[in-house]
Amino acid sequence: MCGIVGYIGERDGQKLLLNGLKCLEYRGYDSSGMAIYLEKKKAISLRKLSGKVKNLEVLLEKKPLFGSLGIAHTRWATHGPPNQLNAHPHLDCKGEIALVHNGIIENYREIKQMLLKETHTFRSQTDTEVIVHLIEKFYYKDASLEEATRRAAKLLKGSFAIALFSDREPDKLIGARCGSPLIVGLGDKENFLASDVPAILDYTKKVIFLEENELVVLEKERVKITNFEGEIIKREPVNISWTKEEAQKQGFPHFMLKEILEQPQVLEKILEQRIKDSGIFFEELGSSSPVLLSKKLSQIKNIFIVACGTAYHAGLVGKYILESLCRIPVLAEVSSEFRYHSSFLIDKDTLVIAISQSGETADTLASVRQAKMQGAEVISICNVLGSTLTRESDAVIYTHAGPEISVASTKTYTAQLMILYLFALYLAVLKETLSKDRINDYLEMLKQIPPKQRQILSNLKIIREIARKHSHFGSFLYLGRNINYPSALEGALKLKEISYIPAEGYAAGEMKHGPIALIDEYRAVVCIIPESKLYDKMLSNIQEIKSRSGKVIAIASEEDRKIKELVSQVIYIPKIEELFSPLLVALPLQLMAYYIAVKRKCNVDQPRNLAKSVTVE
Ligand code: M6R
Repeated sequence: MCGIVGYIGERDGQKLLLNGLKCLEYRGYDSSGMAIYLEKKKAISLRKLSGKVKNLEVLLEKKPLFGSLGIAHTRWATHGPPNQLNAHPHLDCKGEIALVHNGIIENYREIKQMLLKETHTFRSQTDTEVIVHLIEKFYYKDASLEEATRRAAKLLKGSFAIALFSDREPDKLIGARCGSPLIVGLGDKENFLASDVPAILDYTKKVIFLEENELVVLEKERVKITNFEGEIIKREPVNISWTKEEAQKQGFPHFMLKEILEQPQVLEKILEQRIKDSGIFFEELGSSSPVLLSKKLSQIKNIFIVACGTAYHAGLVGKYILESLCRIPVLAEVSSEFRYHSSFLIDKDTLVIAISQSGETADTLASVRQAKMQGAEVISICNVLGSTLTRESDAVIYTHAGPEISVASTKTYTAQLMILYLFALYLAVLKETLSKDRINDYLEMLKQIPPKQRQILSNLKIIREIARKHSHFGSFLYLGRNINYPSALEGALKLKEISYIPAEGYAAGEMKHGPIALIDEYRAVVCIIPESKLYDKMLSNIQEIKSRSGKVIAIASEEDRKIKELVSQVIYIPKIEELFSPLLVALPLQLMAYYIAVKRKCNVDQPRNLAKSVTVE
């Protein structure tokens, strides 16, 4: 959460940092700020205020900052309200060091008490401000800025990624990481720091990912990485394949719509990469990865899936897929629970699958560490190249969905599902739980998904109309059965996070155990009822809702006449084997949420109180 950009070079720092912040605003957007070293005055100058980066841009137009060394930040408040005082950067007492921070300093109270006794004065309510004062304390005891930062970093508990500079050493930009991501971008006579790749994609694609407890000193023509003990670390940069265009809106009104529409392409790419000559390929799990040899995979006794939010819903669908195709027990659990509870159930015969778009979700990372301590192998399914999760897992399966900017996950959800289907079929081959013919049939069905998704996306009008008609409802219930029970959970999450309408997902079979009491003419109920073995059961649920005046919106398979007679609002999806239906059902659910949020004039891509990656617990 929060976005950091830092620059040292010869360009217009203000322009570059502002541009970077705009690309990172999805990480936090309640206040922002910038500090630049003013060459002429040989001093730091600061601009910061509450609200979105746009406000900062307006302020900088009126009061520009000229210089080529600077740091900037967009905030997602944890300590202290999102006002100007609490916005980053923060300065030390003398105003000679400027610092921005992502993460949470857990021992900030103790440090603050100690510093207060030493006559430091604080301006904000943030945990961050103690860091810059702590560095100041060591800086004036003859340490260089690098050494002072290192000493301070060793005293901090919690998580942090920081970027800072001082007007006493204006040839250096310093960064450090512990628990929050930070990357270094390499340029020609210039170097960059950022919390995420999109911020620097305009200027360089050569990136070094900092590891835990590392500090970096950037000069115009030099980058030095050390650990917190001061030992030099050599690391080659990686080349980022994402293009800037992929990370831009390209004329769409919102990233979310663009990303929803990208799904057929994303899935096609995954299928092309994984299926060759009717075989399924996961090279990353093969002989190149000794810990996850096929032999070992075929012998695992149970699987734990850990994830949060939408990725957790993908994991729940994964449970249905893996259990039915591989005949293996699977437990899917939210990482925030797993990390404190279930890890004792794990041993060396357990496979843990961690799913995360960002690869930086704090609870998921903690779960992975916990599982590894218990001796389990961890495969991660992740979208962000080089993220912490990918570095800490035994093997990584990338979703390659391209950058997802909207806070609401859409294309990465179906990409995670597609990977799970293919992985389950791959495991079914190893465990010999399905015949070769059956596997080929399933692969053919998966290949039909992108064209079927295109069919849904070619007629947005009906979904938009239904969404508009229901946008005034005060609450929604989403019902599904079997493998579409997680789809119901995901539909409800999508709606609530971007439209702020209370929405609940339920297994339709649970209706009579409570939720039916909610049904009346003010309740919109989205019923997921594709062709399936439980179709008639779902139909009975719909009858029960209708007889209590609930407003049903059905998502059904094309040519379903029964549903048409019963329900006036139907969104049709192409016919598909029930097992694969979540890959189609997801699209109308995402679009419904999107159009309702647009109609209610909500900030679709940056919903209130949320951030794209949740790097704190
Ligand atoms: O980056 P991750 O996939 O680990 O993020 C997990 C959740 O925070 C995320 O899926 C969240 O629920 C989305 N905003 C939902 O659209």
